[in-house]
Amino acid sequence: MKTELRFTPAASAPSELLAVFAADTSASKDKDAKPEVTLLTSDEAVRKTANFVLATGEFKAEANETLLLHAPEGLAATRLLIVGLGKGAKADPHAIRRAAGTAVRFAKPRNIRSLAILVPEGNFDPTQSTRAIAEGAILADFDSDTYRTDRKDRSIEAVSVLVPSGVDKSRAEAGHREGVIIAESQNFARTLINEPGNRMTPTILGQRAADMAAETGLKCEVHSTDKLRELKMGAFLSVAQGSDEPPALIILTYDPEGAPDGPVMGLVGKGITFDTGGISIKPADNMEKMKYDMAGGAAMIGAMRAIAQLKPAVKVIAVVCAAENMPSGKAVKPGDITFAMSGKSIEVVNTDAEGRMVLADGLHYARELGATRLIDAATLTGAVAIALGQINAGVFANDEDAYQHFTNALAISGEKFWRLPVEDEYRDQIRSSIADIQNTGLTRYGGATNAAMFLKEFVGDTPWLHLDIAGLAWQDAEKPWLAKGPTGVAVRSIIEWVRSYA
Ligand code: BES
Ligand code: ZN
Ligand code: ZN
Repeated sequence: MKTELRFTPAASAPSELLAVFAADTSASKDKDAKPEVTLLTSDEAVRKTANFVLATGEFKAEANETLLLHAPEGLAATRLLIVGLGKGAKADPHAIRRAAGTAVRFAKPRNIRSLAILVPEGNFDPTQSTRAIAEGAILADFDSDTYRTDRKDRSIEAVSVLVPSGVDKSRAEAGHREGVIIAESQNFARTLINEPGNRMTPTILGQRAADMAAETGLKCEVHSTDKLRELKMGAFLSVAQGSDEPPALIILTYDPEGAPDGPVMGLVGKGITFDTGGISIKPADNMEKMKYDMAGGAAMIGAMRAIAQLKPAVKVIAVVCAAENMPSGKAVKPGDITFAMSGKSIEVVNTDAEGRMVLADGLHYARELGATRLIDAATLTGAVAIALGQINAGVFANDEDAYQHFTNALAISGEKFWRLPVEDEYRDQIRSSIADIQNTGLTRYGGATNAAMFLKEFVGDTPWLHLDIAGLAWQDAEKPWLAKGPTGVAVRSIIEWVRSYA
């Protein structure tokens, strides 16, 4: 999809479909109050055509509600689509992102290949709204049915973002450019996540990261078994040893000229390209989903792609630990002892708790490479989805300032994360009688925190955030603005978190 800004009046822009936003600006808090539908454009021709149907009251401007008009009078477009933003007259880029996505996904099955989206007028920041439209449109264009031989490519070829007169051109352009970079990077992560285990091995993930790095000017190193042995990454190696596929330690470096020596941002991702559970094997039901167990690693690779282009003045290192978790005669067994790179001994009580094992060495290594702020992303526990459902992902923090940066990042990204505890009172859960720690909690209670407590053993006093995205990395049902399948959750928040240190 190509998106471009246009500074032509809405009525005279020819297109297969013109999307215009409307909000419910009624001040009443009562849910059943009559909506006050406000069309967010001053274009007279659009208003005239739309007002006729809006007067019927059948369109309530609820979030992502749509109303289609064919052959709208006085417009160069052949269709006019009104999309609801929901309640509120003030600027909400998150509602705009979704509504723009809804317009694109409305168009896709109707064989429309190009559309125009009108930047809303009113109390809307032009940088934020052009960015939100570009993001929403590009994210909505993604579909996951890559391997259907009867696949009809319903991609939208072109989206024109129509900027009303009076809007600052350079601010609109800046927002649009950011939106394109960020959403294309999130889609890049989604493409990686969508691939099945046989087409996304650790080696292939390393190759995809290296190709991306070559395109964007990042430094990239991909290492395998020998180097892991040299680095004494016993925890990471213990996960990889059951598979015929060699592991990949992927290191991406962004070191811009003129950036201060510190902070150095360390991004660490879980890249399990398939998680069978190993000897503690998972039940067959839903096991096919475990191809997305590299979503945290993909999020880091996607974030680095955007960072390379947005060029914030801050150093960033990403470490992705990719392996396949398989049962075999060589696989790690419950009860086995391994030594992490940090020197800590670990009792492997459950081989299905493999994500924390690879991250233990990834986090330690990122610090050795010089990271002074850490963030990791992982589809780490089913327990986080039990606790938070599929609306919020989990965030854990050992540092209030780093967490504050993250909540600021969420305000920009629009993603939802809910904080869960990693306090020392929970440490008893990972005590082992034979080794320094064990890789599962003594009880099932607080499983997401137990996993976070395990990771905490490897970050020392470095400010650190842990994102458990197990509940949100994959979406089973389509939303009006987003396809089902890989979501690319966390990519946007990680990008903004990094930028907040520049
Ligand atoms: N990859 C899974 C977590 C997961 C579950 C991701 C559901 C996405 C959806 C992880 O490696 C795992 O198996 N965790 C175990 C930990 C347990 C053995 C302590 C879990 O959550 O059951
Ligand atoms: Zn597992
Ligand atoms: Zn896993």
